[in-house]
Amino acid sequence: MTLPRQAALPDSYADLDESALRERLAARKAELADRLLILCHHYQQEAVFAHADVTGDSLKLARAAASARDRRFIVFCGVHFMAESADILTAADQVVILPDLRAGCSMADMAGHEEMAEAWQELLGAVGQGVRLTPLTYVNSSARLKALVGQRGGSVCTSSNAERVLTWGLARGDKVFFFPDEHLGRNSAAALGIPDDEVVLWQRGRPLGGNPVAALKKAKVILWNGCCSVHMQFKAEHVRQWRAKEPDIRVIVHPECRREVVRAADLYGSTERIIQAIRESPPGSKWAIGTEINLVNRLARLYPDKASHSLSPFQCLCSTMYRIKPAYLLWVLDNLAAGRIVNRITVDQETAAQAKIALDRMLEI
Ligand code: 13P
Ligand code: SF4
Repeated sequence: MTLPRQAALPDSYADLDESALRERLAARKAELADRLLILCHHYQQEAVFAHADVTGDSLKLARAAASARDRRFIVFCGVHFMAESADILTAADQVVILPDLRAGCSMADMAGHEEMAEAWQELLGAVGQGVRLTPLTYVNSSARLKALVGQRGGSVCTSSNAERVLTWGLARGDKVFFFPDEHLGRNSAAALGIPDDEVVLWQRGRPLGGNPVAALKKAKVILWNGCCSVHMQFKAEHVRQWRAKEPDIRVIVHPECRREVVRAADLYGSTERIIQAIRESPPGSKWAIGTEINLVNRLARLYPDKASHSLSPFQCLCSTMYRIKPAYLLWVLDNLAAGRIVNRITVDQETAAQAKIALDRMLEI
């Protein structure tokens, strides 16, 4: 997806040091008071995270946006698809702002809505029009893709409810077409006990996704081959290395990791679930954590009586989340205080109405 161009910050922001930014952000927040709600995803850098009103995983933040009817301005410190979902779930007179328009998600970009619509028709043609096919999409997808899913009777899911939503999708028809994260889909199907030969991969750009018709007819779950470049960096080998070095270490990973990594781990779950596991573990616990580095570092700082390490020896940073810098946050707040709106994220009414069907279904399931 091509994101709108991000305006360059005025020069006056370039000279602000950390403490000046912190003070000015706090002052602007106080000035905008209850007209403003700052939502922050767990992968945000500390200097931004410190100014959040609500922090959370994608599901928690979607719910917070949906229930913030009294806030006129919702500043979303996360990535583009999250801000789009917030715009869809809020009223027309509420304004959703993304501090840096370049904060996209490479996984969401792997499933174009036109590509999806073509693949849908192709799959239906192969399995037979009478077959009831339900589309599900991970919330990490564009509003236009969510709209196609809503139109076709499907639902959105997040990493914390994917198994529940998949159960719903399978109960409602014969097969599920799952977008865009292969790994969340595969891990959720495995958790529900769906045999491997009933889960097939639809490879983008290949006729019938590279599958024989018989395999598509047999499949219960068809997975789009999108992935998260950050979570793909975690390997089953890293789990073995940690266990060899620290036999009493526990391993927890995000379900965007490959199946073999999730299988080798002790636990897996959304960012919120990962935080809960570390928080509730006894003092002295050791953890190797397979998710984005800002969250891992925060857990190490918040719980010094436990040892929290990245599962990977390399820094797995989500570079698009990292685009939200304190100076950009300040710039959008300064503009709001001056009566100007910059970096507004809007989803057109027709797309929003259809995508909302899919988002509301998730919130109900
Ligand atoms: P969570 O919903 O678990 O926070 O995950 C969102 C995400 O983008 C992970 O890469
Ligand atoms: Fe997208 Fe991966 Fe970044 Fe999450 S961590 S926002 S899935 S690129």
